[in-house]
Order: sequence, then structure tokens, then C-alpha cells
Amino acid sequence: MIDVGIVGGTGYTGVELLRLLAQHPDARVRAITSRKDAGTRVPDMFPSLRRRYDGLVFAEPDKAGLADCDVVFFATPHGVAMAQARELVSAGVKIVDLAADFRLRDPAVFERWYRMPHACPDLLAESVYGLPEVNREAIRKARIVGNPGCYPTAVQLGFLPLLEAGVVDTRHLIADCKSGVSGAGRKTEMNLLFAEASDNFAAYGVKGHRHHPEIAQGLALAAGSPVSLAFTPHLTPAIRGIFATLYAPLTGPETDLQALFEKRYAGEPFVDVMPAGSAPDTRSVRASNMLRIAVHRPAGTDLAMVLAVEDNLVKGAAGQAIQNMNLMFGLPEGAGLEALAVLP
Ligand SMILES: NC(=O)c1ccc[n+]([C@@H]2O[C@H](COP(=O)([O-])OP(=O)(O)OC[C@H]3O[C@@H](n4cnc5c(N)ncnc54)[C@H](OP(=O)(O)O)[C@@H]3O)[C@@H](O)[C@H]2O)c1
Repeated sequence: MIDVGIVGGTGYTGVELLRLLAQHPDARVRAITSRKDAGTRVPDMFPSLRRRYDGLVFAEPDKAGLADCDVVFFATPHGVAMAQARELVSAGVKIVDLAADFRLRDPAVFERWYRMPHACPDLLAESVYGLPEVNREAIRKARIVGNPGCYPTAVQLGFLPLLEAGVVDTRHLIADCKSGVSGAGRKTEMNLLFAEASDNFAAYGVKGHRHHPEIAQGLALAAGSPVSLAFTPHLTPAIRGIFATLYAPLTGPETDLQALFEKRYAGEPFVDVMPAGSAPDTRSVRASNMLRIAVHRPAGTDLAMVLAVEDNLVKGAAGQAIQNMNLMFGLPEGAGLEALAVLP
């Protein structure tokens, strides 16, 4: 049985980790933190977790016993995991960071976008970017995994087959993306108020979003050279879900796109290439770890258009983090992650 610690257990990805780990056959949550709610019993904050975590109490991070765990998930803002990583890995604890501390390979790029120096560039260098569909073998051996961002998961998996096959012009990639409001975390901000976010649809981060360098990094690796990407996120009046509509000019218009995607993701447990002509929707993945993709070539164009949907809290965060944990501990990759999407 793997002993799990969660730093940041009161946020949306934290409670999603708790929900998914409650169904995991080989892992149990031993430590959970909150600074504001230390001393509160987990089921008192989240009645959905009653009868699963009745003995679990939120603790201050330094009193939670994180060093006694086998793995610690950081479901915290950026900057928290890197401050504690050295002490934990020295104690033999593996780390999966759901924030950005171990995503960007170049510490200078991290510093530019996150406006803080990287606390442990040596550990960043040995860490692995946790996109199993790309880095599965390296994740198995990793002590520290930087779990991908929600948009970066959908956008990279959507573009990857095209870039790896070299069938698109990488100077003109467009990612038009939408997210439900839980993507912003469990906090009060003006644009997340009910009267602002409901019955509304807004672009944000148009001048530059922190997920841009992460996506560009992954796409450049897949393409073998830098790419030019326009990435525009939007806030939709939904709670969960990411919808990424991706466009790329085809350099080989004769390419059988459907066959390309089916071949690339054959055997992938959590990427579902839908039949030709399909249009996915976010509720087909709600609360599940599946990312569904449909690929099209719009009539009258030489464009590839990819439609990718995921649940931002599952394949976009906590589910993928558990997928990574499973790989790091030699467990079946899908352990605890087999639940189907919730309808309606
Ligand atoms: N929401 C998503 O869809 C999503 C998807 C992918 C990745 N992520 C990333 O995952 C991370 C967590 O996101 P979230 O949406 O779950 O955030 P959230 O709802 O705002 O929760 C943040 C959690 O971190 C704790 N925390 C905050 N500052 C801390 C500190 N300095 N030290 C220790 N704990 C601290 C908070 O509890 P206390 O303040 O009580 O300690 C809270 O439990 C973020 O980095 C986010 O970018 C989120």
C-alpha cells in the first residue's frame, strides 16, 4: 500500500485527488495539509468524502508528517513544491507537483513567467515532465514529476500526432481553448463571481498566458524545432471541462488524418480517438481521466482541425497526477482511474 501525502488538500485539485484516491486499490492518503483549515476533519469540509476519510484531519504543512509518505502531491500554487522538494526527496519521498515548478525545463523561462527564481535548478534538471503519452518510460524512473497544466495537456495531445509526423506548418499553429471556472481554483476573484462568470463567455490572458511557454516547449520537442503558436484561453460558464479547438496548415494535404491519430494513440489507455466526423463534448469526459479527440479537415481548406476535450480536474490535473504516481510505483497505469464520465 502506498502512503500518500497531499499538500493543499482544500483546493479543487486537492479534493479531486481525495475523490480519486478513495477508489485506488493500492494507495491510501496518510497526510493532508491546509494552513487555513488545520484541525478540521476532511469529511467536515467535504461531506462527499464522509465514510471514506472519517479519520483524516487537515494539518499544517510542517506538522503533517509528509516525510513519512511514499509520495507527496503538491496541489498548491507555484513556488510551494520547489521550496520543499529537496528535503522530501532526501527523505526518499517521491513528488508529483500539480503546479508549474517542474514543468519548464529552462529555469530562466520559469523565472520570466512566474516572477520568482527557481529554488532548485538541479532538481528541475532531473525531474520529468509528466505527460505519460510522451514520457512514460522516464516517468517510471522519476523521483520528481512536473504534472502538466490543464490546457497544455489538451493542446499538446491534440497537436502531437501532426507534429511528430511532420505534416503541418509549425509556424501557424492556433489553439482556441475554453475552460470551466474550476480551472481557476477555489478562490474568490471578481471574474469568478456567479454574476460575472455565468451567462457569459470571455477571453482572458490574451496578451500572454503562463501555459503558452509550457505548450510551446512540448510542441517544439515533438516537432524537432521551435513552433509559432497563437493560444487564446476563454472562460465558459461551466464548472468542469476544457475544450481545445486546434488548427494547423497541412503541408501534406493527402495525409490520412484519422489513420494518423488512431495509430499514434493505439493502446493509450486515456486518449480516445473518436470516429471520423465526430464532435466531442466536455460532458463525455466529466469526472473521468479520458481525453477525447476528433480530427477533421474542414471542407475547402488545407487545414487540420483537432477537437480535444478533457476534464481539467482529472486528465488536466489530479487524474493525470495519479496516472504518473502509478507509473512511478510500477502499478497498473489505470489503477483508480477507471471511472467513466458522469452524465448528464
Ligand atoms: N484547477 C485546475 O483545473 C488545475 C488544473 C491543472 C493544474 N492546476 C494547478 O494545481 C495547483 C492547485 O490548483 P487548485 O485549483 O487546486 O488551487 P486552489 O483551489 O486555489 O487550492 C490551493 C490549495 O493550496 C493550499 N495552499 C495555498 N498556498 C499554499 C502554501 N504557500 N503552502 C501550502 N499550501 C498552500 C491551499 O490551502 P491553504 O491556503 O489552507 O494552505 C489550498 O488547499 C495550482 O498550481 C494550479 O495551477 C489546477
